[in-house]
Amino acid sequence: MKVKRVLKWSAGAILLALVLAGFIAYWTSTNECDRRTTPSNPMKAIVHCEYGSPDVLTVVDVERPVPNDNQVLIRVRAASVNPLDLTIRGPLLLRPLLGMRKPKDTRLGVDYAGTVEAVGRNVTQFKPGDEVFGGKTGALAEYVCGLADRAIVLKPPNMTFEQAASVPVAAITALQGLRDKGKIRSGQKVLINGASGGVGTFAVQIAKSFGTEVTGVCSTRNLDMVRSIGADHVIDYTKDDFTKTDQRYDLIFDLVGNHSFSERRRILNPNGICVMAGIGGAGWHDGIGKRLAGELNAYVASRFVSQKFISYIAQFNKKDMMVLADLLQSGKVTPVIDRTYKLSETADALRYLEQGHARGKVVVTLD
Ligand SMILES: NC(=O)c1ccc[n+]([C@@H]2O[C@H](COP(=O)([O-])OP(=O)(O)OC[C@H]3O[C@@H](n4cnc5c(N)ncnc54)[C@H](OP(=O)(O)O)[C@@H]3O)[C@@H](O)[C@H]2O)c1
Repeated sequence: MKVKRVLKWSAGAILLALVLAGFIAYWTSTNECDRRTTPSNPMKAIVHCEYGSPDVLTVVDVERPVPNDNQVLIRVRAASVNPLDLTIRGPLLLRPLLGMRKPKDTRLGVDYAGTVEAVGRNVTQFKPGDEVFGGKTGALAEYVCGLADRAIVLKPPNMTFEQAASVPVAAITALQGLRDKGKIRSGQKVLINGASGGVGTFAVQIAKSFGTEVTGVCSTRNLDMVRSIGADHVIDYTKDDFTKTDQRYDLIFDLVGNHSFSERRRILNPNGICVMAGIGGAGWHDGIGKRLAGELNAYVASRFVSQKFISYIAQFNKKDMMVLADLLQSGKVTPVIDRTYKLSETADALRYLEQGHARGKVVVTLD
């Protein structure tokens, strides 16, 4: 009896402590906007001090980074936006990571291309003047600074800064999803659902570079574009349901997740793989909750069948950035750019992306 009471009181105390800790974490969460001083060596950067729509984005002067011995300072010439950047809206589930009341990291952007401005004294791979591209948080700014041995590689000379800046997140997602999770092999039949977006346009071309037969699923207005980047077949999702054909695939690379486990399983070969990479175009759209639940269900249900349903989060590494640079250099992959905005128009770029119907990548240029 006594033990039961002690346990009950302890559980109550722990619960109260957790609620209090959450409350304190919420009210004390702050960010650099509350401490900002006039920078001594300023550069322009996109900043969001609060969570909210793209309206919260501002261009402000912040301190220009100084490279340490192992870093490279890059003058950004172009950057691109990704669904990832829409975390500015502060989804509640991610707030323990992003900051409870305000974003911990106020800077935005990851993908960039630019010119090396300065290198640390231990850096041998790069020199001032080199044209590079890569991924680094805070890329929507005049300068970024990153470790030389991370995701920075030389820009192929046949690429513009805009093209190179559109590559990192989207293309690495396509490469790692198809190659590492999907085990793509020459001669396979591959279906890409969401073939016309940022990731999809790279996925079509990368899948073709592996010698596969590619079917791209997109809407009517994008059929020609998806064909033009190499898809052997296209399916218009506004007219046909790709799960209702007699065709069978070895690999489904799914960026939309709008079909159930059993529907997708039906069109997979017995040892086929479905890589669940995304839940549709950027931004909030109807049915996201249902799609997430469907992907979770597919992941669990596939443990009991011969086909595999896998999800993943892409990770930057230099080796894969070099693979992408080679694909760009050889002409096997050419970025598809939908729209280009100036740094001061980044909010418009995100507003457009958020509609979820970008045709390829949305790029931001800097003078
Ligand atoms: N796993 C990872 O590590 C990772 C990394 C990056 C992105 N992602 C996810 O991958 C997804 C795609 O990213 P993204 O950068 O490609 O987004 P995006 O550029 O915003 O994708 C837009 C495209 O989605 C297409 N689309 C929308 N609804 C569709 C449908 N029902 N069927 C087929 N296509 C449809 C649109 O085509 P229409 O205009 O023709 O509708 C548009 O071309 C997102 O959910 C993103 O969060 C995952």
